[in-house]
Amino acid sequence: MSANRGPRAGSEGATRAPDLAGVPLSAVLPALQRIEPHARACWAYDLDALERRARRFQSAFAALSPLVAYALKANVLPALIERARGAGLGAESGSIGELVIAARAGFGAAARVLNGNGRTLEEAAWAAREGVALVNADSIAELDVLQSAAAREGSTLRVALRVNPGIETPGHRYVSTGGEQAKFGIAAGDALEAWAARARWPQLALDGVHLHVGSQLAEPAPLARSLEVAVELAEESARRAAPLSLVNLGGGFGVDYGAGAEFPLEAWARRLAERTRRLNFSWVLEPGRWMVAPVGVLIAEVLWVKRRGDRSFVVLAAGMNDLIRPALYRAAHRIVPLEPREGAPERVTVVGPVCESADVFAEDVVLPPLRRGDAVALLDAGAYGASMSSNYNGRGRLAEVVASAGRLRRARAGETAEDLARRDTDDALPPGPVT
Ligand code: LLP
Repeated sequence: MSANRGPRAGSEGATRAPDLAGVPLSAVLPALQRIEPHARACWAYDLDALERRARRFQSAFAALSPLVAYALKANVLPALIERARGAGLGAESGSIGELVIAARAGFGAAARVLNGNGRTLEEAAWAAREGVALVNADSIAELDVLQSAAAREGSTLRVALRVNPGIETPGHRYVSTGGEQAKFGIAAGDALEAWAARARWPQLALDGVHLHVGSQLAEPAPLARSLEVAVELAEESARRAAPLSLVNLGGGFGVDYGAGAEFPLEAWARRLAERTRRLNFSWVLEPGRWMVAPVGVLIAEVLWVKRRGDRSFVVLAAGMNDLIRPALYRAAHRIVPLEPREGAPERVTVVGPVCESADVFAEDVVLPPLRRGDAVALLDAGAYGASMSSNYNGRGRLAEVVASAGRLRRARAGETAEDLARRDTDDALPPGPVT
């Protein structure tokens, strides 16, 4: 998207919506309504901007020649991930569902990374059969499952152990994953023992360490600390005659949601390259948010403007079931009118239509005047937006529109009320032993 971002919702002054690959944002919802007449909100992504970000990321880290495995959990829309693949990215999957989506989008085995702390037999079998570049294991017991799956297929799986380094990250605790109390990772001592005992799992190339300490990092300090943990572990493992050859530093690179703090990507990449110049590792990075947050918006019509006493509520056609980040993490997304009206800015609370008091996008913010039927965009909603949306309150998930070179396409249809009923069944579940 172009750089003409409006200031943070709530600040005074003009707010301007960005455009989307040459298409004015105000054109997106009307265009969608030509094929989805009832659509009152939708997601929209700029694929050209995604490609630029993918290339920028790879060129920043070029000295390490890493596998840049884009974290699909951030946004798994096929049209979007296919463009990411075309721009050279791999795919990090957290489940068998994401593995299958990655494969269908054309990511080959060498571009696929499997993560997750709830490994299933099904996932292990899929990885062993179809192939992945790397599995990040979250427990020692999981290694037995991976070993059996690989033995059954006669294949080898490359495995990194996810270590919990006890590193706390700033920001909301729900997106901090490397601290002592976090459920992720194993103790460093257990990892060292497993690497030294790697002969127990002959079908696994157990030679990697994985650290992912948190998300939306504004500065590299936590990553620098996790890098030191990785290097120390590799040195100690080598002393124990079990050298490591792969380091996966995860994702976490933060974006600017309007407060002005963006992760210094190039500076960190230079520092990382300098620090590791004499170390001979293969590298994996797993950026999610950084790649897609700034390339997506949530567009929503204003359904109502309700005044109560001296308060004004702007009720949007999108709610917390669509974008849960404000309700779940108290995240703030800038809100900009698509066709700002003349007149004095007004103090409003911007809410969704869901029956929950947490369904609030912005409380007491100052915005240009909004009226019923206007449309707004919630900016930087490309990551953990649509992928975390739900059908709560009987609401269909929204259509997803992609823009490239001045053209729009609907990449995913909005769900209708009929779609919501489609999974309902009345299947007899016969008694007796499970086969
Ligand atoms: N690798 C692993 C193992 C992860 O768990 C994650 C994200 C990533 C990579 C990508 O992290 P990123 O580069 O996007 O920070 N729903 C939250 C964010 C949850 C992140 C979960 N793990 C949000 O909306 O802020």
